[in-house]
Amino acid sequence: MSAARNIPHTTQMPYALRPMQERDLTQAAEIERDAFPTLFPPTSFRRELKNRLARYLVAWRLDDPLELTRQPSESPTRINRIWRSAASLWNGRPIAWQPGKPYIVGFVGAWYMHDEAHIVSVGVRSDYRGFGIGELLLIGAIEQAQKRRMQAVTLEVRISNYIAQNLYKKYGFRKMGVRKGYYSDNREDALIMTTPAINHVSYRQELRSLVESHQNRWGAADRIL
Ligand SMILES: CC(C)(COP(=O)(O)OP(=O)(O)OC[C@H]1O[C@@H](n2cnc3c(N)ncnc32)[C@H](O)[C@@H]1OP(=O)(O)O)[C@@H](O)C(=O)NCCC(=O)NCCS
Repeated sequence: MSAARNIPHTTQMPYALRPMQERDLTQAAEIERDAFPTLFPPTSFRRELKNRLARYLVAWRLDDPLELTRQPSESPTRINRIWRSAASLWNGRPIAWQPGKPYIVGFVGAWYMHDEAHIVSVGVRSDYRGFGIGELLLIGAIEQAQKRRMQAVTLEVRISNYIAQNLYKKYGFRKMGVRKGYYSDNREDALIMTTPAINHVSYRQELRSLVESHQNRWGAADRIL
């Protein structure tokens, strides 16, 4: 593991990256249902954690979600926490999170095969999209692939998924081909998108400037890979 810590930046992004752990499994499953509602069968994250070829990262919130609803005079008593947890259920908020646990807002998973990292999944809770978290996850996956001396990062994306395609294009992924009828729910085609050589000096420079822009826009984020 390595950490890109102590980045000289005045603001801190309220999210950080770290490897997925067993205690994150129920939240990961919840995020997958949110991000990929038609996916069947669901991913066995427990099995993925044991898979030698796979690496998953999660983005988690640095603050306690309960802090946001607590009145200044209130103390964080146990009963208070239980009550708020129940209230969050009532409000239809995500339920897999428990007080005292880190709140996971997104994850990315990659399989490392030969000299290529294959991103198998990236998803962010719908309430948290548009805040730079998907980009942070992709940065983490690419940096992890660089560390593991992979040549390139590749993935499949639905032809209709322009949001994800925009994100990948921003990080240098280019269309390499099409897999006809790849998705079993509606037989939609998948675009194959792949980066150029990620350890080449030109890509490293490009990535560094993208990471700087991300930090300037959203704040610096700890990335434990
Ligand atoms: C794709 C996904 C992970 C993006 O996460 P996110 O946190 O919302 O993305 P970010 O806020 O980091 O945005 C990063 C980039 O994505 C693209 N993007 C994000 N939202 C977009 C939107 N509404 N319209 C167009 N492009 C968008 C842009 O390129 C953006 O960069 P920019 O802000 O400089 O334009 C998220 O939308 C998601 O979980 N979708 C459902 C699951 C999914 O489709 N996963 C990909 C499967 S291949």
